[in-house]
Amino acid sequence: MATEEENLGNVKRQLAKLFEGSLRAVVPDEQDVEPMIAASTGKFVGDYQCNNAMRIFSKIKGRDPQLRNPASVGQAIVEHLPPSDIIESCSVAGAGFVNVVLSKTWMAKNIQSMLIGGIENWAPQLAIKRAVVDFSSPNIAKEMHVGHLRSTIIGDTLSRMLEFSNVEVLRRNHVGDWGTQFGMLIEFLFENFPNSEDVSETAVGDLQTFYKASKQRFDNDAAFKERAQRAVVLLQGGQPEYRKAWAQICEISRKEFDRVYQRLGVQLEEKGESFYNPYIPAVLKELSDQGLIEESQGARVIFLEGFNIPLIVVKSDGGYNYASTDLAALWYRLNEEKAEWIIYVTDVGQQQHFDMFFKAARRAGWLPADANLYPRVSHVGFGLVLGEDGKRFRTRNTEVVRLVDLLDEAKSRSKAALIERGKAEEWTEEELEKTAEAVGYGAVKYADLKNNRLTNYTFDFDQMLNDKGNTAVYLLYAHARICSIIRKSGKDIVELKKTGVIVLDHAGERDLALHLLQFSEIVEEACTNLLPNVLCEYLYNLSEIFTKKFYSNCQVVGSPEETSRLLLCEATAVVMRKCFHLLGIVPVYKI
Ligand code: ARG
Repeated sequence: MATEEENLGNVKRQLAKLFEGSLRAVVPDEQDVEPMIAASTGKFVGDYQCNNAMRIFSKIKGRDPQLRNPASVGQAIVEHLPPSDIIESCSVAGAGFVNVVLSKTWMAKNIQSMLIGGIENWAPQLAIKRAVVDFSSPNIAKEMHVGHLRSTIIGDTLSRMLEFSNVEVLRRNHVGDWGTQFGMLIEFLFENFPNSEDVSETAVGDLQTFYKASKQRFDNDAAFKERAQRAVVLLQGGQPEYRKAWAQICEISRKEFDRVYQRLGVQLEEKGESFYNPYIPAVLKELSDQGLIEESQGARVIFLEGFNIPLIVVKSDGGYNYASTDLAALWYRLNEEKAEWIIYVTDVGQQQHFDMFFKAARRAGWLPADANLYPRVSHVGFGLVLGEDGKRFRTRNTEVVRLVDLLDEAKSRSKAALIERGKAEEWTEEELEKTAEAVGYGAVKYADLKNNRLTNYTFDFDQMLNDKGNTAVYLLYAHARICSIIRKSGKDIVELKKTGVIVLDHAGERDLALHLLQFSEIVEEACTNLLPNVLCEYLYNLSEIFTKKFYSNCQVVGSPEETSRLLLCEATAVVMRKCFHLLGIVPVYKI
């Protein structure tokens, strides 16, 4: 793991350190003035700015005759900067903004050491060691829908970003595998398969249809209903035959879920609702002993300030529910798994549930009062998936969208596009398949991730598989083209990394280098704010800067600067690949 000194990646943090020294010297009486460093927006010359002058001036107004206006505060900040090889020059503009121009030599050296030491040199640094990401989490025997697909895609990316930041991530699939519906499903299974040996995925068939049929039986047959209710009690009491039937039903669902995860390349560990069930009584007792739980209309509830309904933790029939399970799971994650940050990825519709049980946990003293301190909980909400008609996404003929079919269609469409480009003649069947998968699944993921997750997004195959615009296809092709530039040069890039030197004399080279150097702080931002779209935007801009500012102005192969420029191409490809990796997209090398 990189120590703070070794991490050359985070330019912002390094500048902050320098400016911190200077701010201390300028206003020695002010305790802890946090340096406000930002990448420049392009309004002033420079790469970064330090924006503290204005605020400092309004704090010390009149106290120091030398610092008579924000601009002179800015000037003083510049004068007190400790010497460093990071900064080329500084200037003060407007209301005391300090503009920083980075040293080209330092920039080049930093990129070169990343090429030699690996992109891990640029990994963000977070203050925690272990996190739980609770994502995907479909419900057994019910539909795994596009909302679960979004949760799977977003949760996987967040996990990858945390893992890259050296955080141990417990990827948890909190499947809905417990609840009263199982009584009905088990009885229906007994009825249809009197011999339990006959139960198999093929025999039972589609579980959603099975669920519907058993529900119909439950609603229309009083005797069946009674048996189903008794079955719940027997299941929860641990009766072996009922446990076995329950396990069989879960297993069939699991196979279906796994087909989706396998296509998407997503790793998850299932710890469903049933896992936490045994912990509920003790957890509720703890809350009860603290006086948090009250009786209300036969149910046991927690009243919380700011909410007009209480959080029900024991239903009036004595059963536990979603909230009691989530409280027990949170307790387990904090105390048994020692997670410092617990992240839940679901649609925004569940916001209130999370707000409420987070608040209950805070009142119980499980979490610090300041929600930004660790141990910390975060609900990562996301919007709906819409169809091209602007309504909730559905396929033409069926009510629901089978996720496996959806992913298969993305792949077959991308394969068709590759064949149209003549790739069937050029490539082996295996290459064609692999590329079609990378592009097809990558397109589905990227189309989801590039939006701010809170907005609804429209699922549109034509748009996401377009090779122009901000799509995975465009980005994957851009990466493949960079690889082909390097290949066609005929140079040994491993050798060049060791012996070559990067020079940033052309504006196009410098612009590209600056963007590359911002990778680390961008991943850190995307990760700490739980916003994958920030990384997508960075990746898209990287590709644009490479093409429009660098490649169209700077000849690579055959130029006097060939070595340096090939190294810049390689650095771009390395950073792009890391972005793809963090977004769960498999890169392609030729197209
Ligand atoms: N099974 C739930 C659903 O499909 C999502 C569970 C999310 N995780 C949690 N700990 N509540 O809506």
